[in-house]
Amino acid sequence: MLVLGIESSCDETGLALYDTQDGLLAHALYSQVAMHEQYGGVVPELASRDHIQRAIPLLEQVLAQSGRPRTAIDVIAYTQGPGLAGALLVGASVACGLGLALDKPVLGVHHLEGHLLSPLLARDPPAFPFIALLVSGGHTQLMRVDGVGQYALLGETLDDAAGEAFDKSAKLLGLGYPGGPAISRLAEFGDPDVYSLPRPMLHSKNLNFSFSGLKTAVLTVVKNQITNICEQDKANVARAFVDAIVEVLVAKCLAALKQTGLKRLVIAGGVGANRQLREALNAQAEKKRFKVFYPELEFCTDNGAMIAFAGAMRLQRNPDAAQREYSFNVRPRWPLEQLQA
Ligand code: KG4
Ligand code: ZN
Repeated sequence: MLVLGIESSCDETGLALYDTQDGLLAHALYSQVAMHEQYGGVVPELASRDHIQRAIPLLEQVLAQSGRPRTAIDVIAYTQGPGLAGALLVGASVACGLGLALDKPVLGVHHLEGHLLSPLLARDPPAFPFIALLVSGGHTQLMRVDGVGQYALLGETLDDAAGEAFDKSAKLLGLGYPGGPAISRLAEFGDPDVYSLPRPMLHSKNLNFSFSGLKTAVLTVVKNQITNICEQDKANVARAFVDAIVEVLVAKCLAALKQTGLKRLVIAGGVGANRQLREALNAQAEKKRFKVFYPELEFCTDNGAMIAFAGAMRLQRNPDAAQREYSFNVRPRWPLEQLQA
């Protein structure tokens, strides 16, 4: 079965073709980062308009890459939510328009399920059950994953998401958007002993997170030096920020593994691309004898491959999940726990 995946929930247009026999045949991505950069964050209306322009050329690109004709597509899977309403509507309307034109069924996919299952696209995929840390721009959650559609929420952020904390702190340091990769790079040059930032909820005895205080702590440090924060000091703050957030994320992952007795940890979502987080987790995995799995770097951040794959997994469990029903609604707010198994 050949599944076309369409991702358009935020500022990346991603299309991919996944074949249940032959695996991932093609994927293509257009990132709007350069367009949003000048505004310091995603401008929803501009995002929607850009998705409209990119979707069809990217479709042509993946079809050409795969060498299959468009009529070979069996099902069209698209991100139905959560995300920006206007941006989601573009992917949904392209999917349903295409479905109607080709007489193929369509399937709305949960964006976070895409992220959660993305490590299964890697060369060394994890077996179920596993603990998943989902760390993206909008979400920070620890889940127990027993199979496709079997997700139990163990803990989540009470305020900002980890990626949001990265982005906001980077903005305070004048690093532009998106700030995660930039602050991570700068931290490499920072002295770890100059600043100490709080580790929110490190000892909370539950698996929840809170990152808004960390961003405020960065603001306080930056404000105190507003006259001339030198490059080295910026790097020192970046280092203190990364050390704090990584320590909390790692500690909560270890606590989740201990609580459930599981030995497999999956890291999904954009912050999963973070080098310091990976190094810290790898060190702990070796020490504490558990295994940690990451999606391929290109599938950490938003992409169409994870949507095509999550769609294919759903269809394997329930072939009727996709329908020739082309009136659509998107779900900008859609808790993963509400997803039907
Ligand atoms: O999963 P994703 O692409 O989009 C959402 O679904 O939100 O995640 C984007 C987030 C952004 O906040 C970005 O700054 C962060 O992931 N990110 C990183 C890195 N690469 C992306 N954060 C820290 N280090 C990175 N290397
Ligand atoms: Zn995402």
